[in-house]
Amino acid sequence: MDFSFLDKYWIYFVKGTEWTIFLSVFTVLFGFIIGVVLALLRMSNIKVIKFIAVAYIEFMRGTPLLVQIYLIYYCLPFAGVTLPDYVAAILTLSLNSGAYIAEIFRAGIQNLDKGQMEAARSLGMPHRMAMRYIVLPQAFRNILPALGNELVVVIKESSIVSVIGITELMYQADTVRGIFARPFEPLIIAAIVYFIMTFTLSKLLGRWEGRLKRA
Ligand code: ARG
Repeated sequence: MDFSFLDKYWIYFVKGTEWTIFLSVFTVLFGFIIGVVLALLRMSNIKVIKFIAVAYIEFMRGTPLLVQIYLIYYCLPFAGVTLPDYVAAILTLSLNSGAYIAEIFRAGIQNLDKGQMEAARSLGMPHRMAMRYIVLPQAFRNILPALGNELVVVIKESSIVSVIGITELMYQADTVRGIFARPFEPLIIAAIVYFIMTFTLSKLLGRWEGRLKRA
């Protein structure tokens, strides 16, 4: 084992980690918005809307993220849409994560006691208002653990966008592997950094969850 390359190349890993965090934060943010909208569409009474939402969710969950990133980055330009690589990356990751978050939300809403909606409606709240002020906030609290888990998944899955040249952690580890002509050490460093991020995050989320439960 020889980690002497770190003297010169540590900055590659720092830059890569910054990109990984940047991608993950925006993915979860946009994925969250997409997920909420999809979950609501999926529960719609209008059949066509429901069908489109279900088809979208099933497609996103049933095809590899790798194929999706290639479709958006390499195929969209043929339809006249050329996106900067990092936009394509965040877009793909968000569209993908949104499908998973939609299912998390749907479970959260459907698991909530029906009495909550009924009580709100019997107080005279319109459906939309009851959803917004009574159902969604409670559902949100119930699904926090699952959402936190999704963030951990996104941090790891973001490594796939290295294939279109986004200089995130995996890409940088690969670059150093090439320069240094040794595969093991740079990959070990990448693995350790990913682990530190996901492990720390799980612990923090666990603590936050515990506090919410007590409150
Ligand atoms: N590795 C999976 C795939 O290739 C992506 C899973 C994404 N999962 C998630 N919960 N966001 O499709």
